[in-house]
Amino acid sequence: MIEKTLSIIKPDGVSKNLIGDIIKRIEGQGLKVKAMKMIHMSKEQAKDFYAVHDGKPFFESVTDFMSSGPCVVMILEGGDVIKKYRDLMGATNFEDAEEGTIRREFATNIEKNVVHGSDAPETAAFEIGYFFNALEIVG
Ligand code: CMP
Repeated sequence: MIEKTLSIIKPDGVSKNLIGDIIKRIEGQGLKVKAMKMIHMSKEQAKDFYAVHDGKPFFESVTDFMSSGPCVVMILEGGDVIKKYRDLMGATNFEDAEEGTIRREFATNIEKNVVHGSDAPETAAFEIGYFFNALEIVG
């Protein structure tokens, strides 16, 4: 089934000059970039985006990190794209990620894990709507 997901190249991925490498991996899987922009979230915007994690021990730290520098946000589209992109990223904790995945190769720790991807169609719809309006989405 053709579906959409939200991808973020996090501040550590941008500062390590990994934007091109990550997009090459995405396109190499046959996934389509339908929208893309660079943003720098405020602390409040990062807290709203990660509201589902409010109250967890890592909430303050991850929202500080996500507002510490620019991110690249993208909408990806393709058959089974949510799972395919999560497979490309690897596990949240890079030490558990498969060899050859983005996080295994480039993450520093469980927080600075280079990329984010939606985990289900409902979260993808929320996350896409958080960053993009209809005029910004090709097609
Ligand atoms: P992400 O997939 O963007 O979802 C939530 C983020 O919180 C996660 O990646 C990590 O960057 C960060 N994080 C930090 N500690 C943890 C943890 N113990 N469990 C899950 N996510 C964590």
